[in-house]
Parts: sequence; C-alpha cells; structure tokens
Amino acid sequence: MTGIRTDWTVRPGGRLAGRLRVPGDKSVSHRAVMLGAIAEGVTEVTGFLEGADCLATMGAFRAMGVPIEGPEGGRLVVRGVGLHGLEAPAAPLDLGNSGTSMRLLAGLLAGQPFDSVLTGDASLSRRPMRRVTEPLKRMGAHIETTPEGTAPLRIHGNPRLRGIDYRTPVASAQVKSAILLAGLYAAGRTCVTEPAPTRDHTERMLAGFGWPVAREPERLRVCLEGGHRLRATAVDVPADLSSAAFFLVGASIAPGSDVELEHVGLNPTRTGVIEILRRMGADLEVTPEGEAGGEPVGRIRVRAARLRGIAIPSELVPLAIDEFPAVFVAAACAEGRTVLTGAAELRVKESDRIQVMAAGLRALGVRAEPRHDGILIEGVGPDGRLGGGTVASHGDHRIAMAFAMAALRAEGPVVIRDCANVATSFPGFDALAREAGLALETGTAA
Ligand code: S3P
Repeated sequence: MTGIRTDWTVRPGGRLAGRLRVPGDKSVSHRAVMLGAIAEGVTEVTGFLEGADCLATMGAFRAMGVPIEGPEGGRLVVRGVGLHGLEAPAAPLDLGNSGTSMRLLAGLLAGQPFDSVLTGDASLSRRPMRRVTEPLKRMGAHIETTPEGTAPLRIHGNPRLRGIDYRTPVASAQVKSAILLAGLYAAGRTCVTEPAPTRDHTERMLAGFGWPVAREPERLRVCLEGGHRLRATAVDVPADLSSAAFFLVGASIAPGSDVELEHVGLNPTRTGVIEILRRMGADLEVTPEGEAGGEPVGRIRVRAARLRGIAIPSELVPLAIDEFPAVFVAAACAEGRTVLTGAAELRVKESDRIQVMAAGLRALGVRAEPRHDGILIEGVGPDGRLGGGTVASHGDHRIAMAFAMAALRAEGPVVIRDCANVATSFPGFDALAREAGLALETGTAA
C-alpha cells in the first residue's frame, strides 16, 4: 500500500434495512479463474468478485498467457489454454494480500514445465506456507520458502509429480485444494484426508468442469487421478456468505433492523455462521432457491433479536472460519459470555484475528480475553451499549467491516483505522452499508 491510509468513522446507533446483494463469493471466484484458465474452451463467469484478491489471481493467469476479458459488471471471459498451455511468467507473480491465490497457485504451478516465483504484501509474507510446500514436496515438487517457511515461494516446476495419500494436520481448504490441483498434473492417484470438513468448492468445481472426483465424506477423504481434461463451463458465482455475515450480525444487533440478502451461497461447508448466530438466538429465515455454479444458493432474511452468549462448538469452527470477527461483535452485544476454543487458525489469517479483535473490543469497553486457541467475550447484553472509540484493523478487511457494524450499538463514534484492504473481498462495502443504514464516513490520512 501507499502512504495514504483510509479510515472510517461510523456514527453510533441506527438500524439496517432493505434488500441487498453482496458481491460474489471470493473462494468460488478464485477457482473459476483457475479452472477456466487450464480448461479447454471458453469459460464465462458471472457474479465474479472484482475484489483485489481475485484480481490478483486473474493477473497471475494473464501473466502466464491466458487471455481473459473483463471483469465488467461481474462478467469475466476466460479463454482456457488447456492443462498444459500455461506459459512461464516473465516476472514474479504478485498476489497481494491473497492467501488463497498463493496457496492454490503453489499447487497448480508445482507440476508445470517452468519455474515461477510467488510474492505478496507484508501480511501475506508473514503467513505460513509450509502447510502446502511440505505435502507438495512429497509429490516431487521443488519449492523454496524463506527460512521461516513464508513467501516468496520459488517454484522449480517438475512435470513429473507423483500422487500421494495425504492426511492434513490442519483443517484447511487451501491446503486440500493445493494438493488436489497438483494432483491434476501428477501420475497416479492423489488423496487428501482432513481432520474436519472444510469448504469443498474445489471438489465441486472440478466435477463441474468434468474431472472425476471421488469423494468419501464420511471418511473426510477426497481422491482424484491425473490424466483427465477440464472442459470449460459457465460459472454463476453466488453472493459471498462471508460478506453477507456482516449484515447478518449488524441487523441482529441493531433494534428495528430487517434485511434481506439475495442469491447468497449456502454451501453447507460454509454455513457455520448461520448455525452459530441461530444458537445465539438470531432471527434468520433462510429460503433455499436451488443452485448456481454448482453451489446451493438462497435468500436470508434477518431481523433484530436479543442475542445470548454461547460456547461455540468446535466442530463449527472450520465452517465459519472467516466469520469470527463478525461473530465476536455479535458476542459483544449478547447477554452473557461467549467462549470460543479450537480456533488457533484465526491467528494466521490476514491478521492475528484473536489478538486484533480482542484489542478492538477492549477499546470499545468490552471485556475480551484472548486465549491461545480462541477468546472469551463478556457481552454487554441486548439493552447495553458498547463504548465509542478508535480501533486498529491492522489492514485486515474483515476486522474493519466487523467493527463498522459494532457502531450500530455504540454510544459514541467508532473510528476504524486502515480500511483500504476491505477492497480485497468487498469492494463497495462502504456504499452498500450506507444504503442499508450505517452512518459510515470514509476519510483519508497521510
Ligand atoms: C479459503 C479457505 C480458508 C479461508 C479463506 C478462503 C479458500 O482458508 O479462510 O478466506 O478459498 O479455500 P483455510 O483453508 O486456510 O482455512
């Protein structure tokens, strides 16, 4: 980022109302570009998320010779070059803030007949990469990291990868996906077994592009074999439930709110936030409306409710992994205590989300105790108020958006520092939030 910083000031109080469609799903948008690029034929993507993370993935494939038109109004046309049609990039591929781009591309590029280098911004350059480079090495990949196991990743392509049968120690869709994408280029069978279910967009989309995928959900296992082809197909990307989550929380905590979110992805490996909020007493009405792009979609109506604190079941953690900043704001407004455990992964997201959320909540007068793998939050109760104050987002998009919603229940303005990265996953959040009723003003500071 440059020296110019974007800060938000959100005036306290108000409520959310209206019918909203949040931008396209980040995970699905990344995968549509990746699979479209190495498919045979033309893939038309609609509802594509024009956020910086997905644009970084798009830029990487353009740099490898894939003709891509758009995005324009969420429409992207990817002229696939086939499994073996990528060209060596002339320069390092800069993936900005995007962990998904870097980890999935590491898998996809490990088996190419050329070398590549993957770089990212300061946050991405701190995030752990051995979780993907280790299993990829077992497949025969040659990837160098820094001594700390972080980016830049120097990939020496090896077109002779071998399939592996890998048990992932972390529940991570990015790790699973990296191995499966390498498996497309490997000889024989590649299998991944997870410690808990994680988002399955890669498996669904591979099948949609005609690649046979053998899934054994009861064993948390997925396998595929090299030697097939991907055939281009149209992908209609649903609205991102992770972006909708801010409005689910905002409308739940602000009395008098009534919001309807349209065409939202309801993949069961992503809906942990709905389950958690319901257990807290949220008033959510979910109406399924069939499928889009191989993913279940529907409408969610949310009205304000009196929330109560809960012990969040650890099996829901991977199914709500990106939604905890928003859930913590719900917990801060609930009656009683919310306790989260088994969520150490939150410490290695775009920021250390346990520490950063605890600090922000404390700045607003909430009792929040970080734990090594979770947090304890003492809510102010449905009739209570948070304090106003200034919170640091640490350049983390989801922290910024979560605290913007917190202002609905604050007694003074909430100032949020360093919000430019909201554009990585939710361009236009400020305008949409204002339209829904949030008194959010954007300012810049040198
Ligand atoms: C993602 C997987 C998750 C999530 C990220 C997107 C993906 O990461 O946090 O925002 O698209 O596969 P992990 O799989 O590492 O938990």
